[in-house]
This record gives sequence, C-alpha cells and structure tokens, in this order.
Amino acid sequence: MSFVLDKISMVENPIAETSQIAEQLEKKGNQILRFSIGDPAAYFKTPEYILSAYKLALENHKTAYSDWKGNEGLRSAVASRYKDLYNVEYTSDIVQITQGVSEALQFINMSLIEKNTTAVIIAPFFTQYLPYILMEGGKPILTFHDFSNNWNIDTESLKEKIKNAGKNKPKYILVTNPNNPTGTVPSEKSLKEVVEIAKDNDIFLISDEIYDEILYKGIKFTSVSSLAKGVPHMILNGASKNLIATGFRIGFCITPENDKKSISLRNSISILSNSRLSANTPSQYAVAEGISNKEEHKKALKDFIDKVEKRSSLSYKLSQESEFLKAVKPTSAFYLFPQIDLNILKINTDKDFVELLLKEEYLQVIRGSGFGMPGFIRMVTLPSEEKITEAFSRIERFCKRHKK
Ligand SMILES: Cc1ncc(COP(=O)(O)O)c(C=O)c1O
Repeated sequence: MSFVLDKISMVENPIAETSQIAEQLEKKGNQILRFSIGDPAAYFKTPEYILSAYKLALENHKTAYSDWKGNEGLRSAVASRYKDLYNVEYTSDIVQITQGVSEALQFINMSLIEKNTTAVIIAPFFTQYLPYILMEGGKPILTFHDFSNNWNIDTESLKEKIKNAGKNKPKYILVTNPNNPTGTVPSEKSLKEVVEIAKDNDIFLISDEIYDEILYKGIKFTSVSSLAKGVPHMILNGASKNLIATGFRIGFCITPENDKKSISLRNSISILSNSRLSANTPSQYAVAEGISNKEEHKKALKDFIDKVEKRSSLSYKLSQESEFLKAVKPTSAFYLFPQIDLNILKINTDKDFVELLLKEEYLQVIRGSGFGMPGFIRMVTLPSEEKITEAFSRIERFCKRHKK
C-alpha cells in the first residue's frame, strides 16, 4: 500500500500536464507561446485602486486572522453588489468568504459527497469540478452543453440523466454561467429550465458565476440569483476574474435561501472555514474596495473588456478561417474552445494534438478532454493580438504538416 492515498491520483489537472512539458522545453532554451492558463492578472494588471487598498491595509497593520466567515465589510460589499447588479436582497450573513471559488468547491464537496454519491456537472466544465467529486469517492453524472446550439445547456439530456439516476439522486447540479472553457453565456431560457429541473427533482442548484461581469457588447446575462428565488441554491463568485485579482485568493460563497438544505450547507461551509482559520486578510480589504468603488471598477472593467473582446473576436475570426477548426463565437470571459477536425488529420486524439503542438510549435493550449469534451482544445484569448495571430499561424502550419 502506498503512503499517500490513491485518491490523490484522481486530481488530474490537464493544465499542469502540459506545463511540465513546456518547462522542459524552456530549459532547453525554447520560447513557449502560452495560451493555456486563464489568469487575467498574468496578462493584464490588477487595477491600481485595488493595489492601493491592499497597501493601505498593510500600512494599517490589517494582518491578523480575519473572522473565519470573512470581514464584515467585504461580506456587506458582496451583498450590496447583488442588489446593484441583480436587484436581489441579500444580507451579509448569507455570504461566506473563501480562498477562491476553488476552496468553496472543495468545501461543498467535502460537505455533500461521500462514496457513491452522485452530482451533476455539465461538460465542457471547469477542470477542477471533477477531481473534487472523485476525491470524496463520488460519482459525477455528466450532462452536456450543446455545441450545435451555441453551447447552451442540453436540458433534455439533463432531465434524462437525473431520471436514470433513480434512487441515487444527485446531491447537486452545478452550472457555470458564463462558461469556462466555451466563453459563452447560457440563455435565460436554458437557465430557467435548469432551475425548474432542480426544483421539480428537489436537487440543490449551484451556479458558478465567476465571469459574470466580463460580458461583451450587447450580451444579455442572467444571474441564477435572480431566477432561483424559493429554490435551494448557491451562488459562487470572487475576485479572480472580474477584478483581475487571481492571486488575492478571494471567493464569495452565497447561500440565499433558508430551507433545510441551504441552512445545513451554509453551516457546514462555515465550520470548514473555521477549521482553516481565515482567508487572506489584506486581500479582503482590497477586494471590498475593489467592489465598492464602483466608478474605478467600471473604468477598469471597461478597459479590460474592450481589449479582451477584440482579442476574442480576432481568435474566433482566425479559427473560422482555418479548415481544421470550428468554434462558437465567444460572448464573455476570455476563452475560445474550438473543435479540431481529427478526421482530416493524422492525429487521433486531442491529447496527442496538444502534446505534439507544444513539442513541435512551442504553443501551449489545453486538451478539451480535460474539460470533459474530447476533440476540442481550449485557448485563452488574453495574449496580445500579435501573439494570437502568431499562435493561429503555428496551428495552421502544424495541421497542414499532419494532414492525411
Ligand atoms: C469557472 C471557474 N470557476 C472557478 C475558478 C477558480 O476560481 P478561483 O480563482 O476563485 O479559485 C475558475 C478559474 O479559472 C473558473 O474558470
């Protein structure tokens, strides 16, 4: 028997996988074009006013543990944010501050999943959703976003899968709104259907809305917070993407309803938060300012979205020009998720495609199978337009070389 438990081997991270190859290539002196990590702060700067608030917190010696639930100032700021954006009445006591949405997801799965428990995730999904379920011994029920329908949620297959689960009813349905890796926003209609399905089947609904302000011009977004009144649900969000502050490690975990499930999950997350003492204290002050200073936030966000939208449009245009790629036009976040036409290539899988592309063209993208969708690749649209153009020309050269 090995010293470390087998469950650790379930933490497969397709992003880390290619990073190891990239590092080896770099050690040999090659320069890698990185289109792999969805980290806006690695390409853009965290806004100055947020950095100033962080520095001020340090100068004022705000360096002790915070309340394990999070600073009251930040929790109230989060509650107000939901009133401002979605006209829902939240109070600070339903908001738990976590160390990123990642930690909230760990706490949720620790609270709800044990051996053979099921939970619904919708492919393609954010890479971390799967290992957190598997680590607890749970069994994911995979349903799908429909590529042929602008990546909207396939609610028919969702209903079917829940019905087929029979007595082993899923503990939760997890939606990502807007979505990583597709960079698209599910329609209000499909979200309403999901809310109805959760309600009819008495299944807890979780909506990860970490990209909810990164919306391209004219795009309509509906938060589950404004649709799920009266239905047991949770909203996840945080500072990483909307505030370009990934390294601050701040997430918001909101449980608005007061039914039995919501109350017990809220309590469980509070207990688990208490067991790790506190989230980063200066970060919480900085993020409270990040949200509350609406004027500065609006300016920073506009500047960021203007650039990202241009880069996403260019990425989409270049993918359309390729005979090897086919994608849905991104409407939010900073990703393009094209299908690769493996029928016309001498390459069998997306995994092989990604590895060979990295080794031969020094371009790092992520395999779609890591997001539950084989045959696709995920590219971030954060690098400069020049780099995006270069990346697509490398893909084109690579595909032509490997054409059947
Ligand atoms: C959909 C989604 N949820 C959660 C996360 C992780 O967020 P955090 O930095 O708050 O842990 C990411 C990061 O890429 C994401 O894309």
